[in-house]
Amino acid sequence: MKLALFASGTGSNAEVLIRSAQAGELSGEVALVISDKPSAPVLAKAQALGVKTVAIRPTSFQNKAEYEQELVSRLQSEEVDLVVLAGYMRLIGPVLLSAYEGKIINIHPSLLPSFPGLDAIGQALQADVTVTGVTIHYVDAGMDTGPIIAQREVPLVEGETHETLAKKIQAVEHKLYPTVVNQLLHEKLGEES
Ligand code: GRF
Repeated sequence: MKLALFASGTGSNAEVLIRSAQAGELSGEVALVISDKPSAPVLAKAQALGVKTVAIRPTSFQNKAEYEQELVSRLQSEEVDLVVLAGYMRLIGPVLLSAYEGKIINIHPSLLPSFPGLDAIGQALQADVTVTGVTIHYVDAGMDTGPIIAQREVPLVEGETHETLAKKIQAVEHKLYPTVVNQLLHEKLGEES
């Protein structure tokens, strides 16, 4: 099984997934890391771990469809089975969705459907909730709206700040994402045998 990771930023989830795969904890390998931002730190992290990377700038294309066609070509030439979004800050359009239907997942730092979109952690603090969390879901055309695969709660404590909450949420993400990705890889392996 082959994974492609899409990320626009720091790449801590991407790093954890690469390390898990390299440690033999996933039934698959990370074939490729793709970023829409050539300066994204995730690229250096993946390269340091010996993973192939590619930066593809959407602005180099006429439109989103052409950009996504390039993504699809890259994924197909690596024979990717599962596309894992890890801080990829773009909506997925019809070209990529139809080529990889049911094969694109995302992680989001809230208990969806609460707090979709940007700064889910800030939104949770603003709303003064006592519990937020992490969601892994299949990707559809909407913003953080696809079918939910797994969720974990993260309680807020007295005096919680953006920084403390972000740290707790990331710790949960780093455990949950490899576990769920591995489950999905197993399901796909089962379907193929
Ligand atoms: C994560 O919190 C994830 O839930 C959200 O973007 C963040 C990416 O963090 N989609 P990192 O780049 O993996 O550190």
